[in-house]
Amino acid sequence: MRVIAIVNQKGGCGKTTTTVNLAGALAEEGHRVLVVDMDPQAHATLALGLEPDDLEANLYEVLVEPTGAGRLDSIIIDVSESIDIAPSSIVLSALEQKLASERHDARTERLSAAIEALPPLYDFVLIDCPPNVGLLTFNALRAAGEVIIPLETSFFAIDGVQKLLETIGLLSERIGHKLHVRVLPTLYDGRTRYARNTLGEIRELFKELCFDSVIRLNVKLREAAKHGVPISRFAPTAIGALDYASVAMELAAAPPEVLATIPTERRGAPDAIGAPREVVVRFKDAAAGDVRIAGDFNGWVPDRGVRSLIASEGQTRVWTKVLTLEPGTYQYRYVVDGEWREDPANPQSAPGPTGQPNSILHVR
Ligand SMILES: Nc1ncnc2c1ncn2[C@@H]1O[C@H](COP(=O)(O)OP(=O)(O)O)[C@@H](O)[C@H]1O
Ligand SMILES: [Mg+2]
Repeated sequence: MRVIAIVNQKGGCGKTTTTVNLAGALAEEGHRVLVVDMDPQAHATLALGLEPDDLEANLYEVLVEPTGAGRLDSIIIDVSESIDIAPSSIVLSALEQKLASERHDARTERLSAAIEALPPLYDFVLIDCPPNVGLLTFNALRAAGEVIIPLETSFFAIDGVQKLLETIGLLSERIGHKLHVRVLPTLYDGRTRYARNTLGEIRELFKELCFDSVIRLNVKLREAAKHGVPISRFAPTAIGALDYASVAMELAAAPPEVLATIPTERRGAPDAIGAPREVVVRFKDAAAGDVRIAGDFNGWVPDRGVRSLIASEGQTRVWTKVLTLEPGTYQYRYVVDGEWREDPANPQSAPGPTGQPNSILHVR
């Protein structure tokens, strides 16, 4: 069971949208998902079609008494075949005061105790956090093994993120478990230079900690929330659905323990028979800002272990990707401004696990 907290003290950067639609995308791939709504505003609860005021029980009871009468499984509601939710309510905002007299550790371990007591029903637990780093967010971070920080590409300020990363680092030390943090660019409008530059900056700053997938602006995401269903159900072909499907794919392909073991550079003697050799592929485009390559050779983690060169031919930019591969047959795709694409220069392809075609590369 992977427990992932979706955190950023800034409001409106796509935390709730990410929680709900990532849950939808993971469910489409056959994973069982629990959404934990830790925001008193209950936006995730609403976006999954529930009216918080109509519910008899919510997380408040659980956090007040996690292993007693208010066990987590007693308040969970199944909203679809593979998605359950632990709903929120405005009363959650009173938790801080209610637990004021308790020790810091005792106060912040509530959610982790509740999740540990759950029967092993879920592949993923996604925790939506409020827009501040208070008691509720601390509870989420203590319960989690991984953190996703959504970052707005339409309005990006590095200071806030740095502060958040420091807080997470301090907390990791204190609780003695490492949190695997990744950032996810959201609200991306590739038509504006500002957003393209910001995306470049975010990638430069966070490198492999940045998801390759990018969540583009898509009004369907807003509409889906109003209708109380994830976009994978509301508009499965909308770009919002594709973007969250690609985040789900990245997450499932590379759990933290795998990310830690993939070598960042592979070397071999290129002249020996059967030894790894350098293979060069090229992608040309006039409009693209960011092009990466992912395949079974790098665990589908874009540009991992790949050397990249960028050049210009008139108006067209040319990305050269140098892969070091042993002889064999490989599948790959380009990720162009966050969108997964076949190689337009390669006629050979095969259907991938999600039905979309992967390009094929033979190395002899
Ligand atoms: N990719 C997107 N495209 C269009 N609208 C979005 C997108 N992501 C989020 N929104 C909208 O922006 C607003 C803030 O997003 P939300 O997920 O609620 O942020 P947070 O939970 O961080 O406060 C919501 O109205 C949401 O529907
Ligand atoms: Mg929210």
